Amino acid sequence: MTRHATIAGVGSSLPPRLVPNTWFEGFVDTNDEWIRERTGIVARHFAEDDVQTSDLAVESARAALESAGMAPEQLDMIVVATITGDTVFPATAVWVQKKLGVSCPAFDINAACSGFSYGLSAATAFITAGMADTILLIGAEIFSRILDFNDRGTCILFGDGAGATIVRASDAAGLEGSILGADGNAAEILWMPAGGTRTPASAESVAARDHSVRMPNGREVFKRAVTEMASACRQLLDKSGHTVDDVDVLIPHQANARIMSAVVDRLGIDPVKAIVDVAEVGNTSAASIPIALDRAWRAGTIREGDLVLFTSFGAGLTWGATLVRWTLASPVAAAGTSA
Ligand code: UT7
Repeated sequence: MTRHATIAGVGSSLPPRLVPNTWFEGFVDTNDEWIRERTGIVARHFAEDDVQTSDLAVESARAALESAGMAPEQLDMIVVATITGDTVFPATAVWVQKKLGVSCPAFDINAACSGFSYGLSAATAFITAGMADTILLIGAEIFSRILDFNDRGTCILFGDGAGATIVRASDAAGLEGSILGADGNAAEILWMPAGGTRTPASAESVAARDHSVRMPNGREVFKRAVTEMASACRQLLDKSGHTVDDVDVLIPHQANARIMSAVVDRLGIDPVKAIVDVAEVGNTSAASIPIALDRAWRAGTIREGDLVLFTSFGAGLTWGATLVRWTLASPVAAAGTSA
């Protein structure tokens, strides 16, 4: 029998500190109205100084394990998508493994905001190849640690958080297909210049704040995000023999409400099917899709049997789209049944 993969559990974690747009007005030339109009963001969560990316990851993982009715010992692989890991090495996945108290292979994926899409494809491939049965896939970021709070064009965009899924072997295809893409020619339109072999840490690199996010042309990033996400969705739908009307829920990378709205227009999908959950979360990079997924599932917006389309875009440039037949019963439906 053909091996398939499905999402058997989902969870998320947002640090409690909620930072409103007005907070930035104290040190950069910006205002709440500009940020709301251009991005749809009203507030974002920032982690306290003693919290690590792996802490948020573990919290989201425990919630995902609980929703799957599983114990950490049942995991046979941990994959963390992040570009703001606890340490440059080892991988954040091993810190997560240590905190969960388990022993299984563990590694990170660096595909920036598309990390969750790349991770879902990798997890599906491991499972369908018979190399794993149960994979914990987490997107986790503490972006506030790599923001330049002198740069109004980037510091207002990002937030901290983690979202986790349990990807399991299944008889029927939950994960129906995916498309991935990358364009290294545009690597420097969204990047962190220092901290790697190209520019190791030095007094100069710190003084130049080159250990922070740089996005010299936000407008170009915006355009490429819309083009690549819409095109990845179209290609995937064509490849899978679906039309846009077959999709019940669209979860785009939660970068900016205007980007998501432009993707919806370009795809010609009913806007009520799109999850836009950026207002109090901000752009959490690799964590954005699993956080939006978890919050929508817990709110009862995603139901068993729904065809869910994820699409992502981020630094690299990288992008992706994934089609999932949702197989996890809605907690809202379950609560309604037992009441
Ligand atoms: O995961 C992917 C990560 N990246 C993104 O999602 C970013 C994609 N890009 C965007 O979302 C948008 O380009 C931004 C929200 C970053 C900017 O919006 P925009 O409508 O493209 O504005 P713009 O870059 O064309 O800038 C318009 C003006 C500029 O001023 P001047 O040159 O016209 O005087 C900017 O300096 O807005 C200014 N500006 C700001 N003003 C107030 C830029 N950031 C701010 C700010 N507050 N925070």
